[in-house]
Amino acid sequence: MKIFATYNIKGGVGKTATAVNLSYLAAREGYRVLLWDLDAQGAATFLFRVRPRVKGGGKALIRGTRSIDNAIKATDFDRLDLLPADFTYRNLDLVLDAAKKPARRLGSLLAPLRAEYDVVFLDCPPGISLLSESVLQAADTLLVPLIPTTLSVRTLDQLTEFIAGLNGHKPSILAFFSMIDGRKRLHKEISEQLPEQRGDVAATVIPAMSMIERMSVERAPVAAFAPLSAAARRYTELWAEVRERSGLPEPKPDDAW
Ligand SMILES: Nc1ncnc2c1ncn2[C@@H]1O[C@H](COP(=O)(O)OP(=O)(O)OP(=O)(O)O)[C@@H](O)[C@H]1O
Ligand SMILES: [Mg+2]
Repeated sequence: MKIFATYNIKGGVGKTATAVNLSYLAAREGYRVLLWDLDAQGAATFLFRVRPRVKGGGKALIRGTRSIDNAIKATDFDRLDLLPADFTYRNLDLVLDAAKKPARRLGSLLAPLRAEYDVVFLDCPPGISLLSESVLQAADTLLVPLIPTTLSVRTLDQLTEFIAGLNGHKPSILAFFSMIDGRKRLHKEISEQLPEQRGDVAATVIPAMSMIERMSVERAPVAAFAPLSAAARRYTELWAEVRERSGLPEPKPDDAW
């Protein structure tokens, strides 16, 4: 089981769009996928048309009074399950604080699911908190969407430094450019140069596209409602790159949709 987390301290950079699209594409390819919506805003839960309410809320999950298995919901897509966000997540940090070894909590909650899923995506809220520490401990790879400005490179450096300073487990980082505006020269320059200069920046970029914005109207991943669109193709490329770099074994081909 590989655990990917879409993570950035910054908000509105494409974390949820990435988690939703890549989890869909992974399931389509034959992997058994769980998407855990860790954001109280519940955007990923909304996009997959899953009812957000978890009995007892996220608190019960983190405290261990409710098993994770019971909270997992099926989506409209085969092999793709979702752990919904619940409004109580707004207190998640406090609950984590009260848990034993809070930074390990997410990882230990996921451990029993190893046999059930090949791939897990954690869709994180923006910011840096106890929850993010727990995510950093649990994740094998952080997928970091970057808006192409010189500041975004600083953000990536800061994150890299922060992770290097962690004790114990350190997730690997794979950043990629998100919401590139093709008309802006700076966007073009940075998004072409940085992947060549840095091994932790993906070659695939996700442009700003109205088809991606449409996800919130269609309430589905792009490749589900517009399979032939340029947006679907970009996410397919990104998933291929993520999959290859993370060394995920091939899925059974006869399982693909
Ligand atoms: N490549 C893109 N092109 C155009 N719109 C995009 C793109 N990626 C995301 N969006 C839109 O931008 C908004 C923010 O995207 P998203 O929710 O994925 O970001 P986020 O990083 O998860 O935000 P938050 O920090 O609030 O969780 C959404 O309305 C989404 O539809
Ligand atoms: Mg989000």
